[in-house]
Amino acid sequence: MPIKAAIILGTRPELIKLAPVISAMRASPNFEPFVLSTGQHREMLDQAMSMVGIDANVDLDLMRPNQLLTGVLQASIGGIGNTLVRENPDVVLVQGDTTTALSGAQAGYFMGIPVGHVEAGLRSGNINAPFPEEMNRILISRLAKWHFAPTELARDNLLAESVSSEAIHITGNTVVDSLKELIRHRAQDIENKTADRIISKGSRLILVTLHRRESFGGPIEDICRALTEIVNENQNVELLFPVHLNPKVREVVNRILGGNKRVHLTDPLDYGEFIGALRSAYFVITDSGGVQEEAPVFGVPVLLVREATERIEGVDAGVVCKIGFDTEKLISISDQLLKDPKKHRQMSQVKNLYGDGNAAKRITEILAREA
Ligand code: UD1
Ligand code: UDP
Repeated sequence: MPIKAAIILGTRPELIKLAPVISAMRASPNFEPFVLSTGQHREMLDQAMSMVGIDANVDLDLMRPNQLLTGVLQASIGGIGNTLVRENPDVVLVQGDTTTALSGAQAGYFMGIPVGHVEAGLRSGNINAPFPEEMNRILISRLAKWHFAPTELARDNLLAESVSSEAIHITGNTVVDSLKELIRHRAQDIENKTADRIISKGSRLILVTLHRRESFGGPIEDICRALTEIVNENQNVELLFPVHLNPKVREVVNRILGGNKRVHLTDPLDYGEFIGALRSAYFVITDSGGVQEEAPVFGVPVLLVREATERIEGVDAGVVCKIGFDTEKLISISDQLLKDPKKHRQMSQVKNLYGDGNAAKRITEILAREA
C-alpha cells in the first residue's frame, strides 16, 4: 500500500519549498500525496501554484483581509483537523514556520498521525524576531517525528533542544531543488521581463522585498525613507520593489515611495520573474527568509533589514550583511556597494550554502523507509 501523505501548506514560500516534495511523491509508487491548502495566502499562493504547476486537493480558503494570527490559527487548525479525520493519512508533512505549518503539526499530533517537518532547526535565538515564526518553529520541533534539517547548523540547534539525533536528517533545503528545477527546465520563465521592461538601460537594479511583522510601524517607515535617500543620492540606480499584498506593508510603501520615478513598485512577481530580477540585481535589500537563501546561489549580495536571522550561514560566508533597522548603516553600506567595486566583488561570491538540489529525494526516501 502506498503511504498516504497529507502535505499541508498555505503561503507562497511553503508552496515554492514543498513543490519538489509533492512532485517527487506524485512520481513515486510509494506515495499517495494529498495537498491540503489552508489558503492562508490567496493571490500570492495562487500565483505560485500556477507558476509551479501544482494544485491543492482541498483548499480551506481561509484568508481574510488584515487577518489576525489567532484568527488564522483557529480557522486553520479546525479545517485541517476535519480534513485529516476525513482523509486519514499515514503521515502529515509541514514546512517552515508559518501559522499553517504550526496548525498542521498540532492537528497531526492531536490525531496521532506522525508529522514530518521540512526546514527544521532554524533558530534566531530571539522569540520576537522573526515574530511569530521563531516560536512556531520551536513548537513544531516539539510536535514532529521527523526533522528534515537543511544544514548542520540547523541539526545542531535541534540537538541543543534535546531532539533525538535519530530523528534528525540533514537533507539540504528544498528551496535549492526548486531553483534548480526552474533553471534546468523552465529557463524561459526566468527571463527578466519585468526588470527589462522597467529599468532604464545602464542603470543598476536594487531589488527590494519587505514584509515582516516585527518591522511594522516605525522600522518599515524608516527603511522606506532610507530607500528614497539611496536612489536620490546615487545616479544610475533604480529600485524594483514587488510589494507584498499585506495592506500594512502596502500602505506605508505606497505613501513613502510612490511617485519616485526611479522606484518601481509592482505587485508580487511570479516566481520565475522574481528569480530573473534577483539574478540581474546589483544587490538586494530584504527581510525575507527565502530570498536570503536564493541570492547567494547567484552571487547577489544581500542587505538584511532584520534584527535577527536564523540563516546565519549567509552572514558567516560574508554574502549577507545584517543591517537590522539601522538606516544609517543601510545607506552607508548601499553607498559602499555602489561606489566600491572591490566591496561589491567581496559580497558577490556564488555560495552553495543551503543544499545541492536533492533535498526532496532525500526526504521522500527517508519517509518511504520509515513511515
Ligand atoms: C506569512 C507568514 C510568514 C511568511 C509570509 C510569506 C505567518 C505568521 N506568517 O506572513 O512567516 O514569511 O507569509 O509571505 O504565518 N494578503 C493578501 N493576499 C495574499 C497574501 C496576503 O491580500 O495573497 C494580505 C491579507 O490582507 C492578509 C495579510 O496579507 O490578511 C497578511 O497575511 P498573513 O499570511 O497573515 O501574513 P504574512 O505577513 O503574509
Ligand atoms: N518571491 C516571488 N515573488 C515575489 C517575491 C518573492 O515569487 O515578488 C519568492 C521568492 O523567490 C522566495 C519566496 O517568494 O522563494 C519568499 O517568500 P516571502 O519573502 O514572502 O516569505 P519568506 O521566505 O520570508 O517566508
